[in-house]
Amino acid sequence: MMTPEAAMMTREQARARAAELRELIEENNRLYYVENSPKISDYDFDMLMNELMAIEKEYPDLVTPDSPTMKVGSDLRAVPPGKEFAQYPHRYPMLSLGNTYDISEVADFVQRAAKVIGTDFTFSCELKFDGTAICLTYRNGKLFRALTRGDGVIGDDVTGNVRHIGNIPQELKGSGWPDEFEIRGEVYMPYAAFDRLNKERERNEDQPFANPRNAASGSLKLISPKEVSNRGLECTLYHMLGENLPFRTHAEALDAASGWGLPVSDKRRICRDIREIEEYIGYWDTGRKFLPYATDGIVIKVNELALQHTLGYTSKFPRWAVAYKFKAEQALTEVLSIDYQVGRTGAVTPVANLEPVQLAGTVVKRATLHNLGQMRLLDIRIGDHVYVEKGGEIIPKITGVELSERTGKEAVPVFPDRCPDCGTPLVRDEGEAKFFCPNTTGCPTQIKGKLVHFISRKAMNVIAGDATIEQLYDLGLVSSPADFYDLTKEDLLRLDGWKDRSAERFLKSLAASREVTFDHVLFALGIRYVGESTARELALHFKDIDALMAAGKDELLQAEDIGDVVADSILDFFSSPANRELTERLRRAGLQFSMRTEAKPSSDRLKGMSIVISGVFSISRDEIKRLITGNGGKNSSSVSGKTAFLLAGEKPGPEKMQKAADLGIKIIHEKEFMDMISSGVHPQEPSSGQLSLF
Ligand code: IVH
Repeated sequence: MMTPEAAMMTREQARARAAELRELIEENNRLYYVENSPKISDYDFDMLMNELMAIEKEYPDLVTPDSPTMKVGSDLRAVPPGKEFAQYPHRYPMLSLGNTYDISEVADFVQRAAKVIGTDFTFSCELKFDGTAICLTYRNGKLFRALTRGDGVIGDDVTGNVRHIGNIPQELKGSGWPDEFEIRGEVYMPYAAFDRLNKERERNEDQPFANPRNAASGSLKLISPKEVSNRGLECTLYHMLGENLPFRTHAEALDAASGWGLPVSDKRRICRDIREIEEYIGYWDTGRKFLPYATDGIVIKVNELALQHTLGYTSKFPRWAVAYKFKAEQALTEVLSIDYQVGRTGAVTPVANLEPVQLAGTVVKRATLHNLGQMRLLDIRIGDHVYVEKGGEIIPKITGVELSERTGKEAVPVFPDRCPDCGTPLVRDEGEAKFFCPNTTGCPTQIKGKLVHFISRKAMNVIAGDATIEQLYDLGLVSSPADFYDLTKEDLLRLDGWKDRSAERFLKSLAASREVTFDHVLFALGIRYVGESTARELALHFKDIDALMAAGKDELLQAEDIGDVVADSILDFFSSPANRELTERLRRAGLQFSMRTEAKPSSDRLKGMSIVISGVFSISRDEIKRLITGNGGKNSSSVSGKTAFLLAGEKPGPEKMQKAADLGIKIIHEKEFMDMISSGVHPQEPSSGQLSLF
């Protein structure tokens, strides 16, 4: 794999280039695995890695023990205390696969394997699913733990989240499974779910995910497991590990797993030689475009387990498998113009209008340029010929400019310094990538965007289309969300084509929105960075709008999932007299501004008990607190002689644990606690009540 460049370098040049490549690779690994926001294509990344491998092969003494060629990329990230996942070591290191874009290298792999093995053997050919790796452990037929790859040695415990992935069974069916085994695979997001999620993120002005793979790994690391179930993740499993597994081949192991109800792909095929492998690759090179999920290649594995053992592993890859990767499809087209779109929070997004071009089954006419920084990075000009790729085959993005096509007639785009809609000078806050129109109360595009958001399904759920909002605004009937609730039937009859029935239906829908719960109302207010799940956490934490509006930064940071940026945005929102006035008008209109009456205890299983919680749980702390109060208990913050028990999650606080030990207070773990409130097993008195995991 030595590149001609590597062969021509002096030793000093090679050392310098290797250092440069390592830095580039580490940074891009971080963007890919940790930020879920890669800046270069997989192909370009693999080319950097190939170049480094070639240098290290030519100059083995330049290899460093921590070179990215010696280890797999890490998805472990630095997170604020209390928000991290528990971590566990992998029983068997979680490696990656050697990959190639060149079919002749697959032939080399086949030949090498044949040379070592000698006897007749087969290959299992499989799709290479483009998601994020997961390792599941089943103990006595039950899902025991799910770890991410992490750095290959230690992984993040995402069991709570994985329990919300629909096709992963909590319990195996049938019989004959080993008492304990691991099965590894990929968690991925099908295109349909990815599309839905990104549309929603764009509506909420959250940065969309670049591709389904990033969306899958981001979703798997969500702090709130319940949120995971809304993301539509799926899993496919492709590698079983354990002591003395009773199988002769990899295919037998996966067939057995499938019989136990585990999700295993049915697109696998046993191939005997390179000809059959090439046929399989050729078939799926086209066939994959019709699959409902992303694949980025084919994996070819020696099928016989004993022979896998003979071939063994390098520090990073198995020698018994290789990945053949498909190159992402690209198209070259011309930039006709650039629009600057204003969103509901005032963010200005440049969007390129392109000469329509066919790409991976659809015609691409527009591609987002994200922000000024991205435009500068690409040095894009109007009239340029640009490469367009679909991130994970869905969102078109411009990946580069073909400089050889430049004629000199291209025009450097001028990012506007005023709002293209209302003319207000744009501003950019420190650290922000985007420019904003600060005229939040007077810019028509922002106002209409906010109105559309306010009535949207996940907000107030009022049934009306964008055209209705446009007319209501143009007629001067609605310019603030609170104006909706002053509308009369006569007002509505002024709309084009509206009759009694349409007006009544709209008024009925508005009336029904008065019952929409506080968390949705909070989301509807359209506070920047307060998406649906953040609004829910805030509502659960603060209980009502007065407490939220009175909260200082420290109090806001106490709530689940709230970091600096969100806290500042909430403070900023409520510091505006216009927003306070809006909130008051909506309150007067009868909207829900508190979480209705505290849920009545649905069991008294924890009656009279004062319970202290500490550590990280598989559900949010607010949900744990709800379970305590919902079952008649009281949550208190410090351990004392009155504490009934300390409910300890992963990594409980050492001080609380010590105090509990000193006072002889019982420590209960999450599973025991869940059993206690669901089956009635009580630490002091057995009870036989109803299930109350409401
Ligand atoms: S086998 C010991 N099979 O691709 C390595 N991996 O780029 C076992 N992947 O790390 C991995 N589909 O996360 C295997 N059918 C498949 C796969 C697959 C996707 C992922 C996996 C792997 C990565 C390498």
